[in-house]
Amino acid sequence: MDHSAYGSWRNIATDDAVSLSFGFPDPDLFPEDKLHTSLKTVLADEGDDALQYGGGDYQESLTSFLKEQERERGIDFETHELLVTNGATDAIDTVCRAFLEPGDTLIVEKPTFMGVLGVFRNFGVNIVGVPVDDDGMDVEALADLLETRQTAGQESPKLLYTIPDFHNPTGTTLSRERRERLLELATEYEFGILEDGAYSDLWLDEQAPPPIATLDTSERVIRVGSFAKTVAPGIRMGWLTAPSKIRTAARSVASGGTNTLIEGVLGKYCEAGYFDDLLPEIRETYRAKRDHMLAELDRQMPADVTWTDPTGGFFIWVELPEGIDSQSMLEPAAETGVTYLPGPLFYPDDGGSNSLRLSFTYVKQDEITAGIKALAESIETAR
Ligand SMILES: Cc1ncc(COP(=O)(O)O)c(C=O)c1O
Repeated sequence: MDHSAYGSWRNIATDDAVSLSFGFPDPDLFPEDKLHTSLKTVLADEGDDALQYGGGDYQESLTSFLKEQERERGIDFETHELLVTNGATDAIDTVCRAFLEPGDTLIVEKPTFMGVLGVFRNFGVNIVGVPVDDDGMDVEALADLLETRQTAGQESPKLLYTIPDFHNPTGTTLSRERRERLLELATEYEFGILEDGAYSDLWLDEQAPPPIATLDTSERVIRVGSFAKTVAPGIRMGWLTAPSKIRTAARSVASGGTNTLIEGVLGKYCEAGYFDDLLPEIRETYRAKRDHMLAELDRQMPADVTWTDPTGGFFIWVELPEGIDSQSMLEPAAETGVTYLPGPLFYPDDGGSNSLRLSFTYVKQDEITAGIKALAESIETAR
């Protein structure tokens, strides 16, 4: 695939089109007042310290909050440690810097979060994709791939990156059995797992199975998280939890420091209970939007179009009829009144040409209705 094409979708004019493309949170859910109150408290209580190199004490509140939250998910802080980062992407970049070398093989789901494909490519690694079905990564396809590679004398992959909970872009969730099988394979072929939990808190029907990191007994899983979808992307705050020796290695390559002021503000915000208070409203809002988009797809899509049924997260993945190319359909679709992200953006190799990702979180319900109508029309025109 020509990766220079990556920029082109950004240029699609969206003023008159409903944007179902970006994984943006609903701005009505941004907790501006509570962040403001938290900022004022941090500055009033800590003054210059909050602004100086190193930051003030409220940062500790964030670490304590996150450790408590991760402990509740099952992470054992006798053997694990936590590192606050400038977002999940920064956490992933840090892990790459600590562990990857050019030429290493890295396994990802195909499709996967396009933002990390760019990060991984920066490290000159060989990216290999494993298909996803309704239960997340097809771990038996992974087993076959690993065996084939071994038989051919190829090195084991160094790392596997996965989004097991409410996957970006498909919305699927990895079953518990598959999580266990994945760990068996990781032990057999000796690779590490980078588990991205960016959407773990955003379950809409029921929680995802336990994090892979909590089922791991061989200290090979690093789990990352983000506040981008539960507070706001602009605060650029995330974290990683990892077995202590891995966390130490990651810490040693983390340069430039974190945004200590925002860390303190978020520490205060979480300590005050604002984070936990807002989650039910976020889930309720996104549940209603997800249900609405699914109902509109049911009502308006041609019979030969299929889509996933996410139980959380931000996204629905749509498979178009054979022969319709989602990239060439984008410009006419934008003129008809909708934008989406074409499937190939999420593939490490060729693939995904007749699929696309819809995000249900950003726009209002009436816009979802109009967007799906325009999508249905665009599909009919593209036949
Ligand atoms: C799976 C996944 N991980 C990470 C991120 C980005 O997180 P952050 O904004 O904290 O870097 C996203 C955002 O779209 C995502 O979908």
